[in-house]
Amino acid sequence: MKKSLNTDMREAMCKYEHQLKKENSITLTLPQTFAFKDHDVFVFDNLLSFFRWDLHDRQVKIDISKCTSANYQAVALLIPYIWHLVSKNCSVSVIESEDGEDASSMWRMMGARGAVNVLVSKNQNFRGSDFKPTIAVRTEDDFKKVIATSEAFTKDFNVEYENTLRYILSELLYNTMEHGFAFYKFKGHDTQIPSLAQFTYYKTRNELQFIIADLGMGIKKHIEQAYPGQESDEAAIKLAIKPQVSGTFANTNPYKAKNNAGVGLFISTNIIRRLNASMHILSGNGLLHISPRDITGKTLTNSWPGTFVLVTINLGGDPTLQLHKLMQEFRAEAFSEQQQAEQKESNNRCYLSITNEFGSYAEYKPAAIKCRDNKIFPAINSTKDVVIDFENVISAPHSFLSALLASPIKSLGMPAYKRIKFLNTPPEIRETIDFIFDENTG
Ligand SMILES: Nc1ncnc2c1ncn2[C@@H]1O[C@H](COP(=O)(O)OP(=O)(O)OP(=O)(O)O)[C@@H](O)[C@H]1O
Ligand SMILES: [Mg+2]
Repeated sequence: MKKSLNTDMREAMCKYEHQLKKENSITLTLPQTFAFKDHDVFVFDNLLSFFRWDLHDRQVKIDISKCTSANYQAVALLIPYIWHLVSKNCSVSVIESEDGEDASSMWRMMGARGAVNVLVSKNQNFRGSDFKPTIAVRTEDDFKKVIATSEAFTKDFNVEYENTLRYILSELLYNTMEHGFAFYKFKGHDTQIPSLAQFTYYKTRNELQFIIADLGMGIKKHIEQAYPGQESDEAAIKLAIKPQVSGTFANTNPYKAKNNAGVGLFISTNIIRRLNASMHILSGNGLLHISPRDITGKTLTNSWPGTFVLVTINLGGDPTLQLHKLMQEFRAEAFSEQQQAEQKESNNRCYLSITNEFGSYAEYKPAAIKCRDNKIFPAINSTKDVVIDFENVISAPHSFLSALLASPIKSLGMPAYKRIKFLNTPPEIRETIDFIFDENTG
């Protein structure tokens, strides 16, 4: 049969595109060591520096053959990375070495050679070793598969332990499915990019480690739907683990049942603190480490575009643990913490979104004066901090900003630098504000 002109043209275009990608080929070489820890110190920044998130329409070769010291959960992150690259129209190949206990053998054990197939055919999942479960998570069935997998690891331990782990896992899976989903265009259709779950049991340490990773919008962007103006990813993650804090509230129709109470991470992180366990939550460039000893936050140089949670649990933990007792305690704690938080929030912070108050062109001076007198001064007088958010503001001239800020700054003097904070300020607005500060604090 004769091919139509259209088909010929399409084929020619495809060939041309392929050729272009090839000419534009890049090789990313996995370093010799690729793990979360180096000599017992966590090195998330090193690990994240490998990923290049700006590549598109290129042939990308990922050379893992030189990596001789790796960790399964770290290597597993290459899977969502490959999904990301494919979603940006890159063609991806992985260069492996033939033998040895290295990243290449881990790659094969996880069944990760099928990464692109799993992405493009929605009923496919990884066919790796049962001992290194690696699961793409999109549906309820995948959810159940992950839970069943974790039970296979803990079935020889006490039932409470099994339930506790199941609890944490469910919460993390719900979060990734409800808040961390991502899509890309495949053959013209919106197609889901799955989340990833990977488990490994480390026998010598009697430790189970797992990771749940996604390429979704990240915690900051999600939680800002209900709590706008977060200062950083780190601040957003710290907020997310508080009781009754959920990014879903703002979208909830008041006539519909509330589906999210905002307690999943609060309870999970508290359980982790009672077990011989640790959890890292990484989203954007924010990192939060939860351990029995303390909770510490960090802002990294490099980032992950969605969210991943890494959990390590020592399975030789407390045999007397009782999940329902823990839950009772947490509920009481959540209640008192929530009350304190509400008081603190209403006492200490007045949040002002310039776009909500004035639109993206904040230029009308009388409106600035009204806002200053009705909101900013009363906040300052009642010792609140004022947080002013310039997100999506296109223009705010000097006369407008001066009407809004000059007298509050003058009345505060130097403490104005601490009491009035600015978020998402475009550089020229920042300049103007600095100018107003100079003029009024001298
Ligand atoms: N994977 C994720 N991607 C994006 N945002 C997330 C993710 N995980 C958590 N979050 C953010 O953290 C918030 C708090 O999570 P948490 O599990 O405590 O509450 P929730 O999921 O909203 O409610 P619940 O778990 O009680 O149903 C979420 O509402 C969301 O804004
Ligand atoms: Mg949740």
